[in-house]
Amino acid sequence: MKKSKLLILALVLAVVVVAVYRISNRPPSAEYTPEARVAAILVQGGCLDCHTKDAEPPFYADFPIVGKVVRQDIDSGFRAFDIAPLYEALVAGQLPRPVDVAKVEKVALDKRMPEPKYYLVHWGSQMTDAKRDIIVEWVRKYRAEYYADGVEGERAGEPVRPIAEPTDIDARKALLGYALYHDARLSVDNTVSCASCHGLNTAGVDNKQYSEGVEGQKGGVNAPTTYNAVYNFVQFWDGRAGTLAEQAAGPPLNPVEMASTSFDEIVAKLEKDRAFAAAFEAVYPDGLNQANITNAIEEFERTLVTPNSAFDKWLKGDDTALTEEELRGYELFKKYDCATCHVGANLGGESYELMGLRRHYFAERDLPLTEEDNGRYKQTMEERDRHRFKVPGLRNVELTWPYYHDGTRATLSEAVADMAIYQSGVELTEEENAAIVAFLRTLTGEFEGVKLSNENVQE
Ligand code: HEC
Ligand code: HEC
Ligand code: HEC
Repeated sequence: MKKSKLLILALVLAVVVVAVYRISNRPPSAEYTPEARVAAILVQGGCLDCHTKDAEPPFYADFPIVGKVVRQDIDSGFRAFDIAPLYEALVAGQLPRPVDVAKVEKVALDKRMPEPKYYLVHWGSQMTDAKRDIIVEWVRKYRAEYYADGVEGERAGEPVRPIAEPTDIDARKALLGYALYHDARLSVDNTVSCASCHGLNTAGVDNKQYSEGVEGQKGGVNAPTTYNAVYNFVQFWDGRAGTLAEQAAGPPLNPVEMASTSFDEIVAKLEKDRAFAAAFEAVYPDGLNQANITNAIEEFERTLVTPNSAFDKWLKGDDTALTEEELRGYELFKKYDCATCHVGANLGGESYELMGLRRHYFAERDLPLTEEDNGRYKQTMEERDRHRFKVPGLRNVELTWPYYHDGTRATLSEAVADMAIYQSGVELTEEENAAIVAFLRTLTGEFEGVKLSNENVQE
């Protein structure tokens, strides 16, 4: 064959290849429901090949070099994100979890997944503009349906949501819960109450790295705030309590917190206080016992929500509620993936996430590893859960120093800088850090109509 013929053949071949590649990347047909289209995009994109527990390595995983890369991708892909619950919800016609939705939205917006080394081999898997748009549109629809919180217009699609006023509170139970929350008789030597570590005037925390229980004993983990804890999908850093009532049964008997030996011991003390016992029996006919005590505390904690922050006003349509810098901070908060873990009304508390997703946090920390550093692993003994923690909510976060489960970050600015490094893989400029901190300060809300403050002063 002549050279020119060869060239034409090569050109034709190239055009055909490009055409086939483009056709293979066509988005799923508009005949299907938005959910089915998103599910199809995930299958096409190979997302399930790298982000599920039982992802089967393909046959070429046995090849040297390529095989190693493939196995590493599957390991670190599943370590970063488990897509199965979202995919299964889509297929079953159920609403997936907001955190999973936020993660898929973000990688679609950035066209970060799948990576070129995957989509150039697996034709049809590339995240095109058209596929991205299908995902983004579905996410908007999903949020409007999932959060019936009255946010309208362009902000209805935001990953962060306003806090609602508490409703359906049984005021009589909550009042008893308030009293118990402040009652040191729940502790063995009548010195420590819930409020000692979660003071209402100190933003629901004690501002100490580790809390001090009876006789000044120290625990091994930082105390989260009780404000807005009702929004957490589980309680404690490792999620070992499913409800606030279950949580409230813990501290009274915890040897380094309140150190009572049993609820019977607590009940016996409270029953000697006839006035209190009578008030209690008026609301709970079967009287003082563990279930009723923790139920009352839970009812009280359900009132500990902080609506009406500047940020919530903005979400609800008040354009004057935020300064330019605060708004820029929110944009950066979304840009740098923060809002893929810190989502919803409490900006967190909805999932367990790895501490050190992008860089090994614990290897670089100056403290020896502790049992508490294992996080969720303590409960499940599953390797994937090591160093995975329930994401803390960020409401009122300017008041709840020091930060992280180990209380090692004294200021909000440090906490933000290190989140960016360890979780998002970016180093923030000073201006970016200041803007994000300014945004986080707009999350301070009101309790019983008064803006939350903290009697403690940050050093
Ligand atoms: C070839 C394997 C592979 C495929 C296919 C793949 N991912 Fe990933 N994914 C990874 C790896 C590895 C990581 C973690 C490291 C990283 O981010 O580079 C990751 C990280 C993620 C994360 C966590 C956030 C982040 O950026 O680290 C999300 C969310 C995600 N992928 C979603 C998807 C979605 C959605 C698809 C399909 C459209 C997909 N992935 C396809 C391997 C894959
Ligand atoms: C000695 C200090 C101390 C006392 C007293 C104490 N707590 Fe806590 N609280 C903590 C610490 C520390 C944690 C975190 C423990 C963990 O996650 O393992 C915590 C966690 C919690 C949480 C979970 C919040 C979240 O975001 O996961 C709630 C709710 C809570 N406490 C409520 C209470 C109630 C109610 C009482 C009284 C019955 C109480 N605490 C007594 C220190 C204390
Ligand atoms: C992969 C999920 C993930 C991403 C992304 C993420 N965070 Fe976090 N964030 C967490 C977890 C988990 C913790 C708790 C870490 C610990 O206690 O060791 C946390 C803790 C925090 C805290 C401390 C809260 C407290 O009460 O101790 C702040 C502030 C924070 N994150 C802000 C941010 C900002 C700002 C970004 C973006 C730059 C970000 N986070 C990105 C998961 C994430």
